[in-house]
Amino acid sequence: MIQFQNIVKKYGNKTIINNFNLDVEAGQLVVFIGPSGCGKTTLLKMINKLIQPTSGKIYVNGTDISRADPIELRRNIGYVIQNTGLFPHMSIKENLELIPKLKGEDPAAIEKKTEELLELVGLDPKEYLHRFPKELSGGQQQRIGVARAFSTNSDIILMDEPFSALDPVTRSSLQEELFQMQKELNKTIIFVTHDMDEAIKIADKICLLKDGNILQYDTPENILKNPASEFVESFIGKRRVWNNPELLKAEDIMIFNPVKISPKRNVIQAIEIMKENKVDSLMVTDRHNTLLGLVTLKAIQLLNRNSLIEDVMEKNVLAVSEDANLISVLKTMNEHKIGYVPVVNSTGHLTGLITRSSILSALSSQLIDLEVTF
Ligand SMILES: Nc1ncnc2c1ncn2[C@@H]1O[C@H](COP(=O)(O)OP(=O)(O)OP(=O)(O)O)[C@@H](O)[C@H]1O
Ligand SMILES: [Mg+2]
Repeated sequence: MIQFQNIVKKYGNKTIINNFNLDVEAGQLVVFIGPSGCGKTTLLKMINKLIQPTSGKIYVNGTDISRADPIELRRNIGYVIQNTGLFPHMSIKENLELIPKLKGEDPAAIEKKTEELLELVGLDPKEYLHRFPKELSGGQQQRIGVARAFSTNSDIILMDEPFSALDPVTRSSLQEELFQMQKELNKTIIFVTHDMDEAIKIADKICLLKDGNILQYDTPENILKNPASEFVESFIGKRRVWNNPELLKAEDIMIFNPVKISPKRNVIQAIEIMKENKVDSLMVTDRHNTLLGLVTLKAIQLLNRNSLIEDVMEKNVLAVSEDANLISVLKTMNEHKIGYVPVVNSTGHLTGLITRSSILSALSSQLIDLEVTF
């Protein structure tokens, strides 16, 4: 866990960071993003004491780092700088093993780990171990930079625009690898980028910065859905949700007051309620709003008019949870060939109904936003 407490950084009388407070939880990947010069690198370098704050404190796993030995601290924090920082006169193997050796780890274990790390970043150890950095492409060097940050066995890794020099395809595959590695190895990672698409793809949380201040610190989903200010909105662009349909959740696309009926009513009353509300199906709920079943006009119109709803309703109703995403909702509807699906909360209470038209209107409101913005 990394905590920034009241961090101020001044150069001369210019304030770069003004009272910055942030908690980064252990095991999370947090992305710092913001315009050039807003202080991202400065904040990152404060964590491994390459830069001292003017005032304020930083805690790493509960320890105030102003008291920590900087060399020891850096050995325990992986750091990837933009141009990889590989030592040109050392082979890939030597570059990767430098810090573990300095830390006195077991030589056999180090060798094994080096090979595993190379495989993790998609490079064949046999081919690359004994090459020198200049014998690798830029993208391969960046992969080694990432592997080296992971080689320190540290729980914390700082990455300053590590993929900036890569072509989109390599970049995308490294983002994928980083995401997988982080989930497997459970590291705490702070990752700096200018690229919102990259941030959305990999972050547990995004910290949006401007002039050394936090504009918003939240999950990608919440930032996209509820940008805290116009600046955030313009920074992320409206088209994001449209490009990331999995961000739309059942509760964003459902109708909130589906027409309901009690199980104790009869068929004739059900048909009346449908007519009144111009719908052809009703959700059957008890007094507590627990979803019991549903009836459709088609299924009941030819039945005995006095039959009770509880005896004629469809009891095996497929429902989705409020946080199911659009993609999975569409899949459910297609697989089961249904035109609507009820939404229930964690206790089985009906909270809404998704229909083809509610999906369309949710999507078209996104589109209208788009047209206004672009
Ligand atoms: N040694 C220094 N002396 C004076 N000002 C500095 C110094 N180092 C950085 N700055 C200023 O601090 C501000 C923040 O710099 P920083 O490198 O943290 O920005 P950044 O957000 O990483 O930008 P970029 O996205 O361009 O990498 C900038 O305005 C920069 O000019
Ligand atoms: Mg920077």
